[in-house]
Amino acid sequence: MKWLELHILVPSDSHDAVAEICRQAGAQGVSLYADRVITALPITEGLDERVRFFKAQLSHLPEWGLPPVQHLTEQVRDEKEWAEAWKEFFHVLRVGERVVIKPSWEDYTPREADVVIELDPGMAFGTGQHETTQLCLEFLEKLVQPGMVVADIGTGSGILAITAAKLGAISVWAVDNDPVAVLTAKGNVARNGVERLVSVHLADGCEDAPECDLLVANITAEVIENLLPDFARCIRRGGWLVVSGIVQERSGRIRSALQQTPWNHLQHRERGGWCAFAARRG
Ligand SMILES: C[S@@+](CC[C@H](N)C(=O)[O-])C[C@H]1O[C@@H](n2cnc3c(N)ncnc32)[C@H](O)[C@@H]1O
Repeated sequence: MKWLELHILVPSDSHDAVAEICRQAGAQGVSLYADRVITALPITEGLDERVRFFKAQLSHLPEWGLPPVQHLTEQVRDEKEWAEAWKEFFHVLRVGERVVIKPSWEDYTPREADVVIELDPGMAFGTGQHETTQLCLEFLEKLVQPGMVVADIGTGSGILAITAAKLGAISVWAVDNDPVAVLTAKGNVARNGVERLVSVHLADGCEDAPECDLLVANITAEVIENLLPDFARCIRRGGWLVVSGIVQERSGRIRSALQQTPWNHLQHRERGGWCAFAARRG
């Protein structure tokens, strides 16, 4: 099959909306980077109509109070080219003090204390390049203790679940409501040899999740706000919640919610217009 590869240069405040537009236009996979969104539409019947819909939706960003697209490039790729093309944007990346994200196609010689995560993000979100993921990784590095039970809600590529396992968690419950993400995460869990520690499930929010010592969710402010009561039920007393994917303008509501019972010890990190919080369940 051939693909129409699209590079959408747009500030990160618009990434969630652009990713949703890509999905509505029939994109197979959306990758978010600091300055752009990369996706591809299958070249099948009705492509012209899907591209028209896609461009029309993008033009609405300013009406929705979001930064507009700065530049859009289109290129026809065959299957193999598309699989290779976006790799030029994904390289070995150190996050925090010890976590190193290594694409499966690059070599890296680890330093002594490094925790190396080998990833092939495929069509799922979570290369580690996005600020929302990095903020979570930094919190995980500080908060995950050996022997913890961890839940990762919205696992995408599985990056946070695998990191938690490599930082010492004995059991990680990873879920996503997107079947493509579940498949990708399972592949990455196997690639990192942590199948006995990390189980990946197709599920919505924390349904069926076990009681845990730490729950991480990098989704969106709206979804997180709705799921907070479920998160509180899932985390044992004294355990930690880490939430990310929160645009700065919406962070006030999450902060207020986490300043109330049962949460305490609120911590905050931000980067590039994105916020993440960690809070302890009292
Ligand atoms: C921003 S990505 C985060 C991926 C990865 N955890 C990371 O930090 O890079 C959010 C993921 O949450 C998933 N998601 C969104 N709403 C969800 C829900 N209600 N339940 C489970 N997963 C959800 C999406 O499919 C997507 O894979």
